[in-house]
Formats: sequence, structure tokens, C-alpha cells
Amino acid sequence: MRQRTNRQANQNLMGNWNWGNWDWFRTRDMMVFGAGALLSLAASRVAPPFAGRAIGSLRTMAGTDPFDALAQDHQKALAMFEAIEATDNSATGRRAAMLFQLKRMLTAHALAEEDIIYPMLRDDAHRHEQAVKLYRDHAEVKVKLFELEHMAKDSPSWITELRALHHMIESHAREEEQMEFPKLRAALDESRRANLLGEVQREKSMLL
Ligand SMILES: [Fe+2]
Ligand SMILES: [Fe+2]
Repeated sequence: MRQRTNRQANQNLMGNWNWGNWDWFRTRDMMVFGAGALLSLAASRVAPPFAGRAIGSLRTMAGTDPFDALAQDHQKALAMFEAIEATDNSATGRRAAMLFQLKRMLTAHALAEEDIIYPMLRDDAHRHEQAVKLYRDHAEVKVKLFELEHMAKDSPSWITELRALHHMIESHAREEEQMEFPKLRAALDESRRANLLGEVQREKSMLL
């Protein structure tokens, strides 16, 4: 059920996807930022308590929570994996281009986590060992990406290695979303959380 839901969410994301144009992300992010303040105001005035979950979804869409924004990156990356896995062995150029775009997105996301999120996880949430483990995961991902870039894209082992990386990132993202982000979110006061999204976006913008 959860898998089907994820797949549907991924398909929704992919429905708007244009592989040749990163402006889609930029335009959408700007719209999402603009909607953020309005949604927060509307939610605080009209939403009854039972709508808390829906407000969470609105917040996610509005991009007012840094951890929700990072979780959205995860969903986009996982959707990209599914799209690449749907290509056949003859689509070598397309695979190379899609892998490059995936790498670019993962690198920007990783930069924000490594420079901003993980140090706070270590110092503010006192999750030192967990932060070290997440840094190690990122290093492993970078090696795998390098290997995939340099392998023949029409080799059956290429798609096998890509799927292995997909599962690795899925597991890493689940750990962040279910264990570490909630701990850090709880450790930060509202003003620090409010500033954090801007810091994360600035860091990512250095590469996107
Ligand atoms: Fe990460
Ligand atoms: Fe992440």
C-alpha cells in the first residue's frame, strides 16, 4: 500500500518533469515560497485540530519547513531513479543525461545536509554517531555515482548497480525522515527552524 502510494506520488512528480530543463524546479520553488506565507496564515485561522495532517501537507507544498523540503528532495530523487530504471539498455545517451541530472540534484541536497543539517544534528540534537553514519552514507553514494558514470550504460550490470544505489538512498532517506529529522526538529526552537530553510536553500543554490 505504502509502495503504491509512493509510486503514485512519484508518477505525479514525473508527470510534470522535463528532463532537459531545470527551470521547472526553479519556477516551482519560487511559486511554492510565495504561497508559503498565505498558507500559514490561512491554516492558523481556519484549520481545526483534526486538520493537522492536512496542514502538514500544505506546509510541505508551501516549503516553510526545512525538513519537509529535504523530504521532498528525497521523493524527487527516488522518482528519478524509477524513471532511469524504466529505460532500456539501448538508451545509453539518455541514461547518461539522466544520471548527470540525478547526480547534480543529490550533490546539492548532500551539500546542504553536510554543511548545515548534520552539524546541527550532532551539536543540537546530540546525535553524534548518527551524524557520522549519515556522512559515511553520503561518501558511499558519491563513490557509487562515480562508478555508474564510468560504467558502460548498456551493460546489464549498470542497471543492477543503479538499483543498488536506489535502495541505498531509499534506506538513508527513510532513516533521516523517520529518525533524525524529527529529533533535530524537536531540538530547535521556532526561530532557528524558520531560518534553517533559507540556509538550506542558499546552500543548494550554489550547485543548482
Ligand atoms: Fe542525507
Ligand atoms: Fe537527505
